[in-house]
Amino acid sequence: MKAVLTPIDETTQLTVGKSYPVRCAKMKDGSLIPILGKKHADPELGVVGEHYHIDGRFFLPKSVTEKYQIDDEGRTNVILCADEVDIDWNCIVELVVKQKKCVRLTTGVNPPSREATSIWAHLKGLKYYKWYDKFLGKEVNENICPHLGTKMIEHDGVLVCPLHNLKACKKAKIIIK
Ligand code: FES
Repeated sequence: MKAVLTPIDETTQLTVGKSYPVRCAKMKDGSLIPILGKKHADPELGVVGEHYHIDGRFFLPKSVTEKYQIDDEGRTNVILCADEVDIDWNCIVELVVKQKKCVRLTTGVNPPSREATSIWAHLKGLKYYKWYDKFLGKEVNENICPHLGTKMIEHDGVLVCPLHNLKACKKAKIIIK
């Protein structure tokens, strides 16, 4: 009988170079993309469809990182659609657990800059930071993000949520800019 793998959870301390059982989205093109957090929609950020975010801490072939626009820090703004939409290239077929090698400890999204100068980036930033600033000063208990309860990851001495990049002061445990 095939053993059932229990996937890591958000509290697992990862070591680069080690392999772990990870929740993956099997995509229409057959690729297995590690995911993190729960399925959700972000209507306030303009994403009404339910989706998962990519966990860029695990190894993926170059063709896949290029397709899903995962950068050298494991960050991407591509989301994986959980709603069945036949024509979407980034639509999930099923969720599986697979052994994946940890290649870095960073992941998350690339939010627009607060100081964006181009019109398009500025407009994107306005919506994002209007949403972000509603969380300023909110408490962060046990490193859990006050948005959707995702475990925040420590990066350069700051707690950062890998889903939508809310940041918290590690000492004061509150959301900061
Ligand atoms: S779950 Fe959205 S920023 Fe943390």
